[in-house]
Amino acid sequence: MGQGEREQWGSQLGFLMATAGSAIGLGSLWRFPYALGQNGGGAFLLLYVLFSFLVALPLFIGELIMGRKSRRGPVDAFRSLLPGQDWSFAGWIHVGTAFLTLSFYCVVAGWGVHYLFMALTHAFDGRSHQEISSLFHVLYRSSDLNIFWQSIFCLMTCSVVYAGVLEGVERWSRVFTPGLFVFLLILVVYGFHLEGFWPAVNYLFVPNWGQVTSGSVMEALGMSFFTLSVGIGIIITYGSYLGKRESAVRVSGLVAFMTILVSTMAALAIFPATFTFGVPPSSGPGLVFCTLTPLFSQMWGGGILSVIFFSLLVFTALTSSISLLEEIVATLIERYSWSRSYSVALAGLGSFILGIPSACAGSGGIFPEWQQVYGVDFFETVSMLVSDWLFPLGALCIAIFVGWMAPSHLWGDQFEDARLFAVWRWLVRWVCPIAIGVVFLQGTGS
Ligand code: PHE
Repeated sequence: MGQGEREQWGSQLGFLMATAGSAIGLGSLWRFPYALGQNGGGAFLLLYVLFSFLVALPLFIGELIMGRKSRRGPVDAFRSLLPGQDWSFAGWIHVGTAFLTLSFYCVVAGWGVHYLFMALTHAFDGRSHQEISSLFHVLYRSSDLNIFWQSIFCLMTCSVVYAGVLEGVERWSRVFTPGLFVFLLILVVYGFHLEGFWPAVNYLFVPNWGQVTSGSVMEALGMSFFTLSVGIGIIITYGSYLGKRESAVRVSGLVAFMTILVSTMAALAIFPATFTFGVPPSSGPGLVFCTLTPLFSQMWGGGILSVIFFSLLVFTALTSSISLLEEIVATLIERYSWSRSYSVALAGLGSFILGIPSACAGSGGIFPEWQQVYGVDFFETVSMLVSDWLFPLGALCIAIFVGWMAPSHLWGDQFEDARLFAVWRWLVRWVCPIAIGVVFLQGTGS
């Protein structure tokens, strides 16, 4: 779609739902709980919430107004807002990160589709907790299954993006985002009855600072960017479809609040089961699958509940993967004037191929010595590289560009309130770059 005929969101609610749909996804449901389990619980939650509000949210607003002001995808947004200086490299970092993220995102979402399929075919019936838990390891070690489900999910993403932003993204998000809230609430309420509920609450809400390392601080910061979709240009892209009337601060605050709520609710739904079934909190990427499935098998109507949960998981993953692909596609269309179908096909195929080594990480089919040499397998390496390094790097570019490079009068008219503008500007100029810089330095061991 050319710039002249840029689509716009059908309504403010539609924009809100689509942006929340991008933010809320596997980051909150899959990644956050297991990272929390690996980094000691409560202290990690607190760091995550702090970073989300003080660092990620101001940058979210920054991206949103960059997109609205320029009406462009990331690469051209940087270029057009500051014509004299070429900052398009920052946009390319964003697009590259989106591409890499999409590659492993489809693998994880593929696990969700696999679990949905198992739920639909009653594969959990009549099995013990242990057996159900161990099904994840069977999946993780099978490259065939991984690649198969990854390809299915990749195709689903391509077909929605092919239909265009309004038709595809907005319509789906309106249904599934509220559905997810309701369902998580049911799980949290159910958790009250489990014997592991209070140990879980204790674990989640009483910070144990002894277990916080520089690695956990880095992970918490990266997680706040990853879950809010900040630092890779998505919000620039979505903001470019946003009309002039909506308040950037209100919309962003609401999305941040909803995302943090879902992450916390996901943890509150998962950890009571983790403690009840004796699954170690630090068991890694399989946590959500290993704990919730046995829980469903114990619940009344568990068969149907597991179908609903995995449908929601797949659809929230889809609203996020759609946004990743949409950013890449919007950039290709804008920069090279390719058609939408060609761009979708190329970007979809590219990210699928790039994701194959991640899909084969558990089986050791590709790069068999990776884990021995680097300590973590290929999948986890990519996932860490993206979340701990590339998202913060992209976010740093936004902070410097919005806070220091672009003249401040560009942004003034995007805020209804002068005091809010001043606070936002201070956070973006000082708090964001310093926080990211310090965490980076710690991460490199300096
Ligand atoms: N925020 C998404 C999630 O939590 C991941 C994502 C990141 C999607 C960046 C789009 C852009 O799952």
